[in-house]
Amino acid sequence: MLDHEKILIRRGPRSDLPVILALHSTALGPAAGGLRLWHYPDWRDGLTDALRLSAAMTLKFAVAGLTSGGGKTVVALPQGTRLDSARRRDVMYDVADMIDSMDGSYAVGPDVGTAPADMAVIGEVTPHVFCKPEDLGGSGDSSPHTAQGTLAALRALSRRLYGDANLEGRRMALIGLGHVGEHLARLLAAEGVELTVTDIDTSKMEIAEDLGAAWRSPDEIVTADVDVLIPAALGGVLTTQVVGDLRCRAVVGPANNQLATPEVAELLHQRSIVWIPDYVASAGGAINAITTELYEFGADQARARVNAIEGTVTALLETADDLGVTPDQAAHEMAQRRIRAAVPESLSH
Ligand code: PHE
Repeated sequence: MLDHEKILIRRGPRSDLPVILALHSTALGPAAGGLRLWHYPDWRDGLTDALRLSAAMTLKFAVAGLTSGGGKTVVALPQGTRLDSARRRDVMYDVADMIDSMDGSYAVGPDVGTAPADMAVIGEVTPHVFCKPEDLGGSGDSSPHTAQGTLAALRALSRRLYGDANLEGRRMALIGLGHVGEHLARLLAAEGVELTVTDIDTSKMEIAEDLGAAWRSPDEIVTADVDVLIPAALGGVLTTQVVGDLRCRAVVGPANNQLATPEVAELLHQRSIVWIPDYVASAGGAINAITTELYEFGADQARARVNAIEGTVTALLETADDLGVTPDQAAHEMAQRRIRAAVPESLSH
């Protein structure tokens, strides 16, 4: 069954690249979701990504208690494509035209491969864009807020597992030192976490050195003997295969779409490994953008809302325990309840 409201696919007239916009749901309000500019073996893989990522945004906003729906835009770069600055601008204009054609039912923000400077270019064409640079009136880089939200989720987890939200001395393995991953690594190091990190880009070893963190290869780190494994890179790390080899007590991280297939949540549960859903732990960036730009919250109020992820995770873990379900199922339930409450009876099925 098609559960998306609308999917647009267009070869960008300026860039010649596939631009894919997946609008999953506007049940809670106009949709929001980032622009992913990434390499795919085939544009259809980009479409698959857009479909899954946009559905996750719907869950993300519903669980965070915000009045936004879910969407996502993907520009699927053929392998090996490099964009010079002129072509990158063309990509942004192609994306901007598509967003503008949605008449406000979707607004874009940054995601993997894009940044506030790209949002500024999109903002030349359409007002439906989050996270423009602050000097242009936007809320700027969302990654520190995403990292902050993940930290809040880790605190809730720690209280549940160890009876103490203090993370000092906990062993954690973090995969991916991109925008969000690096911020999170710094926050965790400051909390006194015993950190192991990795990235496919070995130049990031410098960050590990700077933080006094151990470095492992991406292959090795997944099976590290730690309290928490933190996926902070691209999705799909948790495959059926990998779950059998994990040696952590929990998986909590800011990467979107961590499960290669939905059944993996159940496999993790069977192994008594707590998985805090990615759409809960990664919500900080979107929460900050929406609350400051749409609700006009001040910085402190927005931060409090990001930190409220701690309470949300605590509630989900309690419900999951009480009902004997996974935190993922508990979160789906919570999201569905909110979406159902927002949709008029005559339209729901
Ligand atoms: N792309 C980020 C996410 O997946 C953050 C973001 C979303 C920022 C929507 C602004 C708007 O949550």
